[in-house]
Formats: sequence, structure tokens, C-alpha cells
Amino acid sequence: MILSASKHTAGLTFNGVIGVLKNVLTPLLRLAVLTCFLMCFQSVTAQEKVPYTASNTALLRSSLGDAAGEQRIDALLHKMTLEEKVGQLVQYSAGQPTGPGTGRTDYNDMIQKGEIGALFNITNAHDSNAFQRIAVEKSRLRIPIVFGLDVIHGFRTEFPIPLGLAATWDPEIVQKAARVAAREASATGIRWAFSPMVDIARDARWGRITESSGEDPYLGEAMARAFVLGYQGERLSAPDSVAACPKHFVGYGAAEGGRDYNSVEISEHTLREFYLPPFRAALDAGAATIMTGFNSLNGVPTSANPFTIKQILRKEWGFRGIVDSDWTSVAELIPHGIANDPASAARKAILAGVEMDMVSSFYHDTLANLVRSGQVPESAVDEAVRDVLRVKFALGLFERPYADEKQEAGTMLQPESVALARAAAERSFVLLKNSPLGTGSPVLPLSSDSKNVALIGPLGDDAAVMLGSWSAQGRPEDAVTLRAALIQKLGPDHLRYAKGGEITKASDEQLAEAVNTARESDTVILALGENGSAMTGEGASRAHLGLPGRQQQLLEAIVATGKPVTLVLFSGRPLTLPWAFEHVPAVLAAWFPGVQAGPALVRTLFGDSSPTGKLPVTWPRSVGQEPLYYNALNTGRPAGNTDLTKPPWEGSDKFVSRYIDEQNSPQFPFGYGLTYASFSYGPTQTSSAQLSAKTLNDGLRDTKRSPDSDLTVSANITNTGTRAGEETVQLYVRLEGTSTAQPIRALKGFQRVKLAAGQTQRVTFRVGAEAFALWDDQNKYTVEPARVKMWISPDSAHGSEATLDIAK
Ligand code: NOJ
Repeated sequence: MILSASKHTAGLTFNGVIGVLKNVLTPLLRLAVLTCFLMCFQSVTAQEKVPYTASNTALLRSSLGDAAGEQRIDALLHKMTLEEKVGQLVQYSAGQPTGPGTGRTDYNDMIQKGEIGALFNITNAHDSNAFQRIAVEKSRLRIPIVFGLDVIHGFRTEFPIPLGLAATWDPEIVQKAARVAAREASATGIRWAFSPMVDIARDARWGRITESSGEDPYLGEAMARAFVLGYQGERLSAPDSVAACPKHFVGYGAAEGGRDYNSVEISEHTLREFYLPPFRAALDAGAATIMTGFNSLNGVPTSANPFTIKQILRKEWGFRGIVDSDWTSVAELIPHGIANDPASAARKAILAGVEMDMVSSFYHDTLANLVRSGQVPESAVDEAVRDVLRVKFALGLFERPYADEKQEAGTMLQPESVALARAAAERSFVLLKNSPLGTGSPVLPLSSDSKNVALIGPLGDDAAVMLGSWSAQGRPEDAVTLRAALIQKLGPDHLRYAKGGEITKASDEQLAEAVNTARESDTVILALGENGSAMTGEGASRAHLGLPGRQQQLLEAIVATGKPVTLVLFSGRPLTLPWAFEHVPAVLAAWFPGVQAGPALVRTLFGDSSPTGKLPVTWPRSVGQEPLYYNALNTGRPAGNTDLTKPPWEGSDKFVSRYIDEQNSPQFPFGYGLTYASFSYGPTQTSSAQLSAKTLNDGLRDTKRSPDSDLTVSANITNTGTRAGEETVQLYVRLEGTSTAQPIRALKGFQRVKLAAGQTQRVTFRVGAEAFALWDDQNKYTVEPARVKMWISPDSAHGSEATLDIAK
């Protein structure tokens, strides 16, 4: 855990408060007080990691099972027939489908018979209440339905896509965004968000990288925790809270070749070191549910995987909420090849610990008979029903099953929510390049006096695309485009606009018109990129990561006019655009910014707001480099000082880990991002040259003590620019001499500093045992003797190195 000096105090207080709470307060009050405390703690030290200690996780999870609640579950379970029990494990889509087929359509009758436990894709209070009325007023046991939805980056107020939210490196704003989403979604009766997607994503070909927080477990943990705290709010039972659902457990992001739904091979070591931590963080923050995946993991599909579900999730982590399948992922056990019929698929899934069957209908069709024939013990069904009821009780659904239809409309798009969407969008932009023009000043920010600006490109005025994929109830009419915002800023007479074609095609005439528009202008803003809904997200993997259609041609033609060009790149992933990065003077990665795309961009382009985003993913030069991620191992033949810009013609540079036709380095490293200020970093300094593995391990295992060591790592950061600026300062660690090879660098902390022009500030990280802990060659989490290298740096590729030793 990384804390600056003052924040360290907060960490100790946190553990102390937990101790007091545990002894004195009733479980319910305890939870409320703790959650309030956590919210305060979160807002002060939002980017930091709450220690994963048994004491605090058990307490957080108590939201899902106090003694009184368990008694209610027992009483209800006792009254249920086998069919009614199975009914609680059945989930169907009852609205716009988000996968192939919908399971069934005759829901009213099934609900009345107690055959459905959950529905999703219903997006208004009237419809959810109508279904709920049947469950609560007409079914024998009156068990409410829980309604879910893919609330991924907002409900009606759409925020930037999750990858953009991760680029903020600002968990506090992400938590607030998730709170807004929860408030809006719950107003329609939705009490379950299938989010956050916490899959580690190392491959830009994979369409769902857009839904992720990128490639890093530490940043992923911070984002996972922020989403969960935002969704679930202070109390899960509050009417405006929704249960979070970290997904897809586990390894889905490592789909071979970046092709969606493809097989995954991950060693247990890598699983534990990289892929599991964000899930653990989400659950430690109290997430009430989890979703398995479509993928097989080392040959066993994750929707029937006893190792990941029974062993890790239940036994090691003690999770007590719902384990949901993904859409038809129980049925997909047949094409995976581990089941030959619905009954054996259902049997394998339930025995592995998958409790709710999303859409397949296999549990509905076969589970009761499997129990009767002795192929599945009834206790397995009971255990699953308990978890479902536990979450329903925790959500307060038995007390308050209906949404308030009168409140629904007024909850959406409230001015504060829209303002937050704009702030989040501004924070998400990553300035990739900003070169000086002939005048010596960089292209950005543009002058507010600009009177003759051209906006060119298919993404300049496309409101729907600004919402990105999985945009829930986001509506194009709510989104402000770049064109609309530029007109607002400059007045219609000062903006020329040419679409320059569609995203995937353009005519010669459209290209020519765009070039003419550029020629007549003083400066050009080019709005290029992908289609957020069609080309990113689920089922949208790409083998080519360039600009679609004729946009590259458009880009080159506009640059050839010699006008100063700013490229605003809209994408759900890094795109491989080496030509653009060489020839276009200014490039801003805007991702898909949500409803406030235009205003946020205009404020940024004209300098009312300075870009502060940092890349949550490594940006490749070419597709052949993928999967490309900074926290890789060094190999036995690292390229070292080899000149990778030249092919190894003479063979002398051949026997190192390299491509013969591409550099190893990325276009931009993880953590990279410019601002309108500039910063210099002084040397990294540590407060001690030697630590003891024993002491660190004691700290790691002793849940009553803060896991922090006394080590501090510091560096002076100076704003060398001419305007005030904010910088996200990063701390990286490398361990050498350990039993398992460790990454070249691993992020272990980050802090945001605001500096006036010319100001210098000392930034200090207090570094605890967790920064040095690893999964060893016996798959144990421990600190080993090691040589340690540390960097305080602006990204994962720079910074001066400090060293220390961890002795026995
Ligand atoms: C399939 C997706 O993989 C999952 O993320 C989503 O939550 C479900 N469909 C429900 O729409």
C-alpha cells in the first residue's frame, strides 16, 4: 500500500476504526458507519489501496449476511419447493437483447409460478414494476425479482467509456460517476449493474478493451474499488444503490489473438499476480455479485471452473454473494466440448459454483430433475439460493420492491450529473503529442481569438458515436458534439465544417470538399476514429488497428495543406497510427467521451482546461506487437542496448528478443500523457537502503497492523512550464533475485500534484510490504529477499532509478 506521509496516518486510523467497530456496534449500524467512513477515506485518499486485510474484508462482506438476515433466508428456504428454489437461479433478458436469443418470452406466467429469480434489460419503472407486481403479489412466496442491466459507464448520463475513465487515474471521479449511474438506473427499478468489467486487457485487438481499465492490476484495483463504492453507495439497501458485478471471472481479457470469446491460457502464477487482483479489490470493496466468463481457462470454461470459483472465490476469498453466469455461458459448455447435453452442462456449472443461469434456461429445464435423480445434491441448489436471497435481502427488495415511477424522469440528467460527465471527460483526455509550430508555440491550446477554424471528419458531429459501446439508456439527443460545442464557442460564422466521409467509407467528392475547407481555414481540427458502438465492445475485435475507411487518406490530404492540424482521435482502444504520430503536430486521445463530449473537448482544445489523462494501456506502433504491456518479464535475452530502429542486417543484433522489422518499444508507454504545463523529475530517493523480508512479511500477515513499512520514496517534481498544471506522479518497482521472475516494472502507487508555473514540490510515497510482495514459485504470496529498483516517474518508461536491498 502506498501512502504519502499524511495519508499514512489515514491508513492507521482506518484499521483502528475497524477494530472499534467490530467490537461495539450492531452489524447493521457497523456497516453504515464503516461505509460512511470508507466514503470519507475514499475521498481523501482516493487513488490509494485500502489494505486487503481479513478484518476489513470480513466486515465489508457482512453487508451480505448478518445473523438476522441469515434467519430470514433459512425461514424462506424452508418453505420453498425444489422448483421454486431453481426459479431463484433463473435469469432472462426481457428487453433489448445483449446477446443471441433471449431464453424465453412468456415471463408473466413463469414469474407467477416462482420460476424466475432475475430479469434484465428492462429499462423503465413502469415495465419493471409490472413484472415485480406479479412476483410480489401473485407468486406463492412473494419473492421479489432483481432487475439488472449493463450499466457500464453511465445509465442516461453517459460518462466516458471505462478505458477513458481509467485514463483519468482519478478513482474519486469514477466513484462519483458510478454513483450517478446507480441513482439513475435504480430510478427505473434496476438494482444490479453488470459492472465493473475488471478484466486485465493487454491486447488492443480485443474489442472489450474499451470496457476495461487497461493492462495494470494496481490501476485496475483502484478503478474496481471506485466503481463498486459508487454503485453500492453507503448502504446496499438504500433505494438508489445497485449491486455491483465485477466481471468476467476470470481471464477473459487474455483471449488468444485478441479475438473475442477465444480460449485463454494463463498460468496460476500469472493469474494470481495480474488477473485476479482487480476482482479481489472489487469484492473487498463489498461487491455483492460476480459474473463468470465465456472463455475457457487452461482448458476449463470459466462458467464451470471449480478451481477459480470454488477454490479461489469461495474458499480463499470467502465470497458470499451471487455468482452469475454470462449470457448463455452455461449453454456454451456444449460447444466448448465439456458437456454433451443441457443436463450435463447445468450439472457441471452448478457443481462448479455458478449459481445463476443467465439466459440459457438450462437450470430451468434440467436442474430439478438433476436433483431428483441424485446427480446434483439439493444442498448445492440450497447454497446458491441462499446467496441469491442474501443479495435480495441486502438490497432491501423485500421491503421496497417497486421503483417510484413519479421520481424516474426527474432523476435523469440532473445538472450536477451532466457537469460531472463533462469534468470526467476532460480528465479522460490524453494529450499524446503537442509540437511547436513555426512560431515556437505548441499547437495546443488554440487561441480563443481564433476566427477561422475548420472542423473536419466523420466524428465531428456524430452524437450517437460519442456515447461509445454499452451506452445503456444514453441517447444521441443528450450528447453534445464537437461541432455543436465549437459553434457555441466561436459562433457559426467562424467555424467551417466538412464531414469528409463516413467512418468506413468516403467518396472522392467528400475528400475534396474537406481539403478545400481546410485550405480556407487558419487551423484545422480533425475528428477521426472508430465507430464506438459498432467497432468497439463485445464481439468487435479488430485485426487491423488503423483508421477505418478512407480516414487515413483524408488525414494525409489535410496535413498536406500545410495548415496546423490537431487530430482528435475517438477510439475504444489504442490505434496504430505511426504516420499520424510522425506528421500531425497535435494529437489528443479522446476515447468516447459521453454526453459532454463537445463541451469537454472545446474547453480542452482552447485551454480552459488542461489535459491531465495518462494512458491506462500501452500504445503499440503496430498490430504485430500485440499483446504489448509494460509490466512484462525481461526475458533471458532482452534487447538491452541494441539499436532496435535498424533491422539486424548483419546478424550481429539478431539473437535478442526483438522483431527484425519493428521496434520493441511502444508508440507511447503505459502511464504516458502530456499537459499544457511541463514537468521535470528530480532523482528518486529512498529513506533506507535496506529492508528486512521478515519484517515485511510480518506486516503483510498481521491484519491488526498497518502493512506499511517505514520506507518512504521521494522525488522533487518541478513545473517547468509557463502555466499551472497537474501531474499524475507514478511509482514503479522492480524486484530482482526472486524465486519467480518479476515484471520489468510494476506500478505501486500514484499521486496527483498541482503545481504553479516554476513551482517545485517534493512528492513522497510511503511504501508498504504489498509493494514488494509477489507470488512465489510455490504460488504463495510473500516478500522474498531481493534487489529492488524503484522509480518515481511520469510514465512507465522514464524516471531516475533508486535501489535498495531486501535482506532476509
Ligand atoms: C454478455 C457480456 O459478456 C456481459 O458482459 C454482459 O453483462 C451480458 N452479456 C449481459 O448483457
